[in-house]
Amino acid sequence: MAFTPPPPLPGAPPVRINLLSDTQTRPTPAMREAMARAEVGDEQTGDDPTTNLLQERVAELLGKQAAVFLPSGTMCNVTATLATCRPGDEIVAHRTAHILSREGGAHAALGGLQITPLDGDDGQFSIEAFRAALHPTTRYEPHQAMVSVEQTANIGGGTIWPQATLDAIAETAKAAGLVTHIDGARLMNAVVATGIDAATMTAGWDSAWIDFSKGLGAPVGAVLAGSRDFIDAVWRWKQRLGGSMRQSGMIAAACIHALDHHIDRLADDHAHARALAAGLMQIDGVEVQEPQTNLVFFRTEGAGVTGAQMVTELRGRGVWLATMDGRVRACTHLDVSAEMIDETLQHVREILRAA
Ligand SMILES: Cc1ncc(COP(=O)(O)O)c(C=O)c1O
Repeated sequence: MAFTPPPPLPGAPPVRINLLSDTQTRPTPAMREAMARAEVGDEQTGDDPTTNLLQERVAELLGKQAAVFLPSGTMCNVTATLATCRPGDEIVAHRTAHILSREGGAHAALGGLQITPLDGDDGQFSIEAFRAALHPTTRYEPHQAMVSVEQTANIGGGTIWPQATLDAIAETAKAAGLVTHIDGARLMNAVVATGIDAATMTAGWDSAWIDFSKGLGAPVGAVLAGSRDFIDAVWRWKQRLGGSMRQSGMIAAACIHALDHHIDRLADDHAHARALAAGLMQIDGVEVQEPQTNLVFFRTEGAGVTGAQMVTELRGRGVWLATMDGRVRACTHLDVSAEMIDETLQHVREILRAA
């Protein structure tokens, strides 16, 4: 499940069109001003007013009792599993889940946890696959402690789990005694694309988080929400892992700015993704997965150029994308305009023509 940017190209022009990831966004001037004006205190002792406000805002947004500010989405996932599960426990997730392939084995290394990968199209498993994976705790079988899903499913193509599936999995999990967790690295993309509010979307789920350093455009930070007891347990792990901060209001202010100004505009990113996909679909031999949010996956082998060759050629023209398992991934975000999409399409056409 390798996410591979092109290798460094000596002499390549600077990146002008950055479709590598929505983590590439730069804080806007207005966001930087909000950061400079932030009221601050000591976050570790609960005395940073801006961080406290951010936590309250996200707890309300996600319809949970409490929330905690963490440095990254990875730390949201790791502290959530460590706070919930015991060594030897089992977590059920999709085979392509970030917790399984992109977090350095943290859940096994730090928590002694095992993750059972489920299959299914587009980064999602069905309710039937989930039911089939459930088993009792016996002398032989591990205790199934948690089910985790990604909304949206990154490697699945930025796909949105249907609300009915989310609700059914949550209900089935609860009945079987599992805790439910949503990796919401791009949850707000799903919210904007579906029009379902975040609290409704995550209602059946014990914990959920949103990332601010992706499409929301902040430089750093994610907020994990759940019950008060859960957040207390997460705090302990945050402290243990060195995730407690000091005057974090400086960065929390960027996140509050993002909540106020960068959510509705995610619709622009989705429109840009659709425009890119529509242009690619018109090129002979290019296979495109219909985008649901801000990620566009496509294949160019059918047009005579491998994914790796395509991203290397594009990088040579100042356009930055990545490959994932042979597919090319383009990610739209705050710093990508409609003109950049047109120019990218132009470059792809020229590269394929030359091949
Ligand atoms: C689905 C998913 N979960 C978790 C993360 C981790 O977030 P962070 O990079 O903030 O640690 C990512 C990052 O790309 C992601 O795509």
